[in-house]
Amino acid sequence: MKRPVLVSLFTPEDQLSQLQMLGPYDRVEVNYHMFPDEETYLQIQGDISKDIKGREVIIFDSLNQPNSKFLQLVFLAETLMECGAKRVGLVCPYLAYMRQDKRFKSGEGVTSTYFAKLISSSFDWLMTVDPHLHRLASLDEIYSIPSCVINAGPSIATWVREHVSKPLLIGPDAESEQWVSNIAKLSNVPYIILEKIRRGDQDVSIKFPDFSPYFDHTPVVIDDIISTASTMIKTVTHLNMQQMKKPICIGVHGIFAKDAYLSLLKSGVANVITCNTISHKTNNINLLPTLSEAILKMLTA
Ligand code: R5P
Repeated sequence: MKRPVLVSLFTPEDQLSQLQMLGPYDRVEVNYHMFPDEETYLQIQGDISKDIKGREVIIFDSLNQPNSKFLQLVFLAETLMECGAKRVGLVCPYLAYMRQDKRFKSGEGVTSTYFAKLISSSFDWLMTVDPHLHRLASLDEIYSIPSCVINAGPSIATWVREHVSKPLLIGPDAESEQWVSNIAKLSNVPYIILEKIRRGDQDVSIKFPDFSPYFDHTPVVIDDIISTASTMIKTVTHLNMQQMKKPICIGVHGIFAKDAYLSLLKSGVANVITCNTISHKTNNINLLPTLSEAILKMLTA
């Protein structure tokens, strides 16, 4: 098989060169810009018949801030197919639009389903890291293309083992149990799942149990997504009021909307750590080796 081709519009160069070294991949550049009216221009660089025709192409771009990226990625996939690519897969370490998977109030759009339909009609396969599967058992329920899900749990467990003494893992809500229980099992440490009620984007309340048996532990709050950080901040504030040690916060996907990161830092955390599914200064858990291994395995299967 010829080396797969790596293409990206939004991923930072350091991540792409790291991926390339983990390969073998060939890189193809895209000349990409916005016209003054914000329409997109793109042109695949290089020798199309040699670099793209008949080749497996991987578009590697995370889907945080999806509305400002989606159309460009679809245009890129279409262009690559027209250039003769064998298949065009999307590797998006963070997959957006997974939370509105149900109509809670009359008239609401079930955007998870609509987004899945759009992605499925534009790409041949999909790979992502820990999508927010809550009421859905798997991506196959809404995506009609083959998909592969990478679990960040083992890498997070390794980080916790190497950096935290006597950890107590804390999941802030029922959805987090799937990740937190797995990480606790892998690291052989205790965990507690809290009960969260969300009333609005930044309006969450959480029920806390008695933490006194764990006063000598280091609390490690783990969630799949840190968006406004309201969930983390509520949890951290409570733990600090209980005179627990300063908590460490770990997010698989650090979106950090607006000033979320600063607010979280100010709430009294010991440290904020994320996986590098979305580029951010808190990225301390590198999932590129796991992603690359999965990509190569999938393409040679
Ligand atoms: C929600 O169900 C997720 O698991 C996270 O708890 C949530 O997305 C965190 O959002 P925020 O940082 O805005 O509280």
